[in-house]
Amino acid sequence: MPCVKEFKRLSSLFLAILSFFTFQGARCELLVSPAGPSLVNALAGENVTLAVSFSGAPDPVVSWFKGVLNIATWTINSSADPPVAATFSSVIRIDKQSANLTFFNVPLNYTSDYTIEMVKSGMSKASTTFTLKIFEYIQSLTLSSQPGLIKEGTENFTLQHSMLQGVFEQQMWFFNGIEIKNSSHYLVKTQANSLVILRPNRNDTGEYAVLLTNPFRNATASQNVSVQYGPNEPTLEAHPLQTFYLAGDSLNLSCQANGFPQPISEWVFGGNIISLKGVLNLTNVQTSQGGVYTCRLVNEDTKESRQKNMTLTVYERPVGNPECSVQSVNAINLQYHCEWVGGTPQAQLSFPELSNSSSGAGNFSLTVNASDNLNGKTIQCMAEHPVEHNKCNITASGPVAFLPIMRTTVDSGGKIVVTVRCFSEASPKAVVSWFSSNETVTNGSTYQISSNTSQLMIRHYNVSNFLLQNYTCTCRNPLGSKKREIQLQGPSISDSSLFPNRNGTIVTLTWEVPSMSVVTGFDIQMKGPDLLSKNRNAPLTKSSSNVYRTIQQKPGSARSTDIFFLDPKLTYWFQVIPKARMTNGEPSKSQRIGPGEGLSGPAIAGIAAGIPCSLLFLLLLTGLIYLGVYCIRNKSHQPRYPVPRAVDKVKNSQPNITANNMLKGMLRSPPDYNRLQKTLSEKSVSLPAFIPPPPTRVATTV
Ligand SMILES: *[C@@H]1O[C@H](CO)[C@@H](O)[C@H](O)[C@H]1NC(C)=O
Ligand SMILES: *[C@@H]1O[C@H](CO)[C@@H](O)[C@H](O)[C@H]1NC(C)=O
Ligand SMILES: *[C@@H]1O[C@H](CO)[C@@H](O)[C@H](O)[C@H]1NC(C)=O
Ligand SMILES: *[C@@H]1O[C@H](CO)[C@@H](O)[C@H](O)[C@H]1NC(C)=O
Ligand SMILES: *[C@@H]1O[C@H](CO)[C@@H](O)[C@H](O)[C@H]1NC(C)=O
Ligand SMILES: *[C@@H]1O[C@H](CO)[C@@H](O)[C@H](O)[C@H]1NC(C)=O
Ligand SMILES: *[C@@H]1O[C@H](CO)[C@@H](O)[C@H](O)[C@H]1NC(C)=O
Ligand SMILES: *[C@@H]1O[C@H](CO)[C@@H](O)[C@H](O)[C@H]1NC(C)=O
Ligand SMILES: *[C@@H]1O[C@H](CO)[C@@H](O)[C@H](O)[C@H]1NC(C)=O
Ligand SMILES: *[C@@H]1O[C@H](CO)[C@@H](O)[C@H](O)[C@H]1NC(C)=O
Ligand SMILES: *[C@@H]1O[C@H](CO)[C@@H](O)[C@H](O)[C@H]1NC(C)=O
Ligand SMILES: *[C@@H]1O[C@H](CO)[C@@H](O)[C@H](O)[C@H]1NC(C)=O
Repeated sequence: MPCVKEFKRLSSLFLAILSFFTFQGARCELLVSPAGPSLVNALAGENVTLAVSFSGAPDPVVSWFKGVLNIATWTINSSADPPVAATFSSVIRIDKQSANLTFFNVPLNYTSDYTIEMVKSGMSKASTTFTLKIFEYIQSLTLSSQPGLIKEGTENFTLQHSMLQGVFEQQMWFFNGIEIKNSSHYLVKTQANSLVILRPNRNDTGEYAVLLTNPFRNATASQNVSVQYGPNEPTLEAHPLQTFYLAGDSLNLSCQANGFPQPISEWVFGGNIISLKGVLNLTNVQTSQGGVYTCRLVNEDTKESRQKNMTLTVYERPVGNPECSVQSVNAINLQYHCEWVGGTPQAQLSFPELSNSSSGAGNFSLTVNASDNLNGKTIQCMAEHPVEHNKCNITASGPVAFLPIMRTTVDSGGKIVVTVRCFSEASPKAVVSWFSSNETVTNGSTYQISSNTSQLMIRHYNVSNFLLQNYTCTCRNPLGSKKREIQLQGPSISDSSLFPNRNGTIVTLTWEVPSMSVVTGFDIQMKGPDLLSKNRNAPLTKSSSNVYRTIQQKPGSARSTDIFFLDPKLTYWFQVIPKARMTNGEPSKSQRIGPGEGLSGPAIAGIAAGIPCSLLFLLLLTGLIYLGVYCIRNKSHQPRYPVPRAVDKVKNSQPNITANNMLKGMLRSPPDYNRLQKTLSEKSVSLPAFIPPPPTRVATTV
């Protein structure tokens, strides 16, 4: 049907028109919007306009608000000026046509939201809001920290910025150029313009900066902050490093510790400050300088202090070497002694062979029972010192076999003085006890025992008194004893010999005395023609005697004499008379010198009778020689005279017994005739003071 189609076409056209008009009706709605940006930044003192554009209805009623506060309300195109509230009138002007809001020389406190509302009766309200921000240039921005002195370990410290004037939009904090964010360590307090650093430590030392920004100008300020700490645990060192030092060494001690500011260190020794520096130089160090050294450290700013000790050990070697000795205690026990004087510390001494539990420092004695197994045993003392290990030896031994020796002199009072010495090598030194017959000898007018007991002096006017009794000496130490009997003899000569020189003008007469014979001097006697005068031309007198006459006197020590100016063509006889003061002993065998004697009648008779006797005599002589050789062999097994020695302190020494030369008298070489005069005359005066006369004869050489 065409009319229905027409109707549908018409009705759709109508709808289109209707809807067009309906759309046109929406154009009459009230509209208002910012003419520029809704956020407006401005510097204080400038002129600022909040410009709007509106449409939708003629002459609406307009209101401006600062926040919620009404600034002005008027109707567009009304004749009157908009009534601006009095508080704003000095700053704000409103253009009544365009509704623009203008601020002249805007102050800071005009920062706010500003809203414009438009109302037209029969239409809905329209509005739009501006945000106005008024800024100032930031001037003289500074940072400060609180507290002024920041110590590691305190609860917190605060950095705060301040400025003379200015408005900022944003603040940023930096530490050594890196932005700081809120964390467990940092607290950025925007409102308080501050940064709090919690539990600061030394790593928080550095440059802090704040950056304040606004749309017009940024400002920054920085401050260096030092977190003070220490002194930390110091390091004490010795250079060169040794476990101990010797007196005289040089070294230095150093003390170092971290801290801020760098701690001040000083060295204290024995309560005195000895160095105000970290390094202490010690040159030629002494043992008194050993001990505890304290390094004291102070942080000058925080007044925190700390100290640490170190021990310096200075040793000194004891003097010389250790010395060992042994002594007798109560004549029963042995006291071994070891000493090493001086030293720091004192040497530790011990006798490990005697006791492994006891020891001593510097000076150590150990008393033990004298037992046989100690006799001749070398005991070692170990001396331990940190600087040196040392030792010494001592050997205790009982007295050895010995021979007494005797000497005779005459004292100023004319008494014969017989000195007997009994000395036996022993360690400890042997003590000698003396007996006459079976009585103990005590000091008195007759007897005197030397302080070391080894010598007995007997004094009498008369030699016979010496022969009344026998004496005994006993050398004793804790390890044993040795005893000898001494039987004194009157003056006597055991042997004599004659040695002429080559041409028979000089003879040397020698003689020996038994070892225990009391002799104070000798008379040298001659029989025959007188001696030649010194010019040797003729005898002084032509006289000749058949009686012995004394031609020389010799002291008790003499054992030889020279007789000069003999006529080789004549015959002489000599003998020696031993004397003990006034008492003469038996003369020596008579010695003859001279050319073969013209045989007298009685002599011939004697010879004739003597021939058979001579054969017997030869036989006897052979037997005697054999006996002699036998005796010599035996003699070498007998105890020998030790050389007397002044051994007062028993020390580590090798026994050095040399056989007494006198005992070898039989092997003695003949006099040297080139040196005869000198040697023999010396011999007769300067024999060693205490060498006993050997009981042997002297070899004979013509
Ligand atoms: C603001 O406007 C006033 C009046 O028109 C004028 O005198 C002044 O110079 C202006 N200030 C600025 C900063 O433009
Ligand atoms: C109001 O503001 C607009 C947009 O900035 C401007 O074009 C217009 O001239 C202003 N009117 C007056 C009277 O200042
Ligand atoms: C802004 O501050 C000034 C003083 O600086 C004051 O006189 C004025 O009333 C204040 N204005 C507003 C809107 O607060
Ligand atoms: C910082 O330390 C002080 C005391 O030293 C304390 O009173 C304060 O609460 C601390 N501040 C913070 C943020 O921890
Ligand atoms: C400081 O920093 C160093 C290295 O970064 C670190 O080894 C040390 O433990 C820190 N000290 C403190 C007290 O945090
Ligand atoms: C201020 O600092 C901000 C952030 O660093 C920067 O984006 C801005 O350009 C700066 N403004 C001026 C005026 O320097
Ligand atoms: C300590 O000794 C060192 C060298 O060992 C020397 O350099 C230093 O100057 C000395 N110090 C003093 C205070 O003598
Ligand atoms: C360090 O030595 C001094 C003096 O000898 C002493 O008084 C102190 O207790 C010692 N200190 C330490 C930590 O050993
Ligand atoms: C001590 O005696 C031992 C043997 O007993 C020997 O080896 C050592 O050299 C002796 N020491 C001294 C100082 O005589
Ligand atoms: C020697 O001892 C015997 C008995 O032991 C005694 O009879 C005698 O009197 C003593 N002799 C002297 C001189 O004391
Ligand atoms: C001395 O001893 C000898 C030998 O033992 C002895 O013959 C003599 O009689 C004694 N003399 C005295 C005075 O006892
Ligand atoms: C005897 O010998 C000695 C040297 O031995 C010599 O000086 C002296 O003149 C000699 N006398 C005679 C008489 O030949």
